[in-house]
Amino acid sequence: MEMLNMKSIPLSLLLFSLLLQAGNCANSAFLFHFCFSKENYTANSPYDTNLNELFDLLSTKVPPTGFGFDTITGKCQNQVSGLALCRGDVSSENCKSCINDASKELRKRCPNKKDAIIWYDYCFLKYSNEYFFGEIDTKNKFFLLNGNKVDNSKTFNPKVNELLSSLAKKATATPKLYATGDLKLEGSETLYGLAQCTRDLSGPDCKKCLDVAISEVPNCCDGQRGGRTVGGSCNVRYELYPIVDAS
Ligand SMILES: *[C@@H]1O[C@H](CO)[C@@H](O)[C@H](O)[C@H]1NC(C)=O
Repeated sequence: MEMLNMKSIPLSLLLFSLLLQAGNCANSAFLFHFCFSKENYTANSPYDTNLNELFDLLSTKVPPTGFGFDTITGKCQNQVSGLALCRGDVSSENCKSCINDASKELRKRCPNKKDAIIWYDYCFLKYSNEYFFGEIDTKNKFFLLNGNKVDNSKTFNPKVNELLSSLAKKATATPKLYATGDLKLEGSETLYGLAQCTRDLSGPDCKKCLDVAISEVPNCCDGQRGGRTVGGSCNVRYELYPIVDAS
């Protein structure tokens, strides 16, 4: 079981949490979504058609590299921009099926909404009628926590920070803006971590985004055996078990 802790910043400090059934099947687990605009489009309108075109494009363009973005232009109000990112270790095949699921779910969960974002374990997908590439998304974020606490958070929390901070540096120094790693703890346990940014960000902006995500870990996940802070531009995660097959 994992707990979800959603935070929409800075518009409100609304916080709530719910229990998620952690999926252990081969499919990528759905995590969360926002329909973040109040603006609607109508069925079969040019925006609707452009959105279909965008989803098709992303499901072809993204899987080979794990990241892509594009804008379908039209008359100004019908322009739609979208971006998708797969977790750095995910195969093209799983990336593609995740993006296809994400497109379908966004249609269902955010019907006729001009902006929306959805996250899975393996990927996330965002679209908007505004051009948003190259900017850190500070609005769409949520936290996920394990629900079980470690015995000694005083010694554990600094280890989490140490690992994630080193991964933020490492991620920023690679073209994929992605890093995983681990840290041996006292006793027999190992801490595993992951950090990733969308590749429309510059290295320094990726670092900025990850630093904020890491700074939120104490708020969401103090003493938790595992946790993630997840946003529209970057995310960090730590667990006491391997997150990806080879880290
Ligand atoms: C969009 O649609 C919802 C109902 O689906 C409605 O409540 C809302 O007022 C609409 N927004 C605008 C800006 O028209």
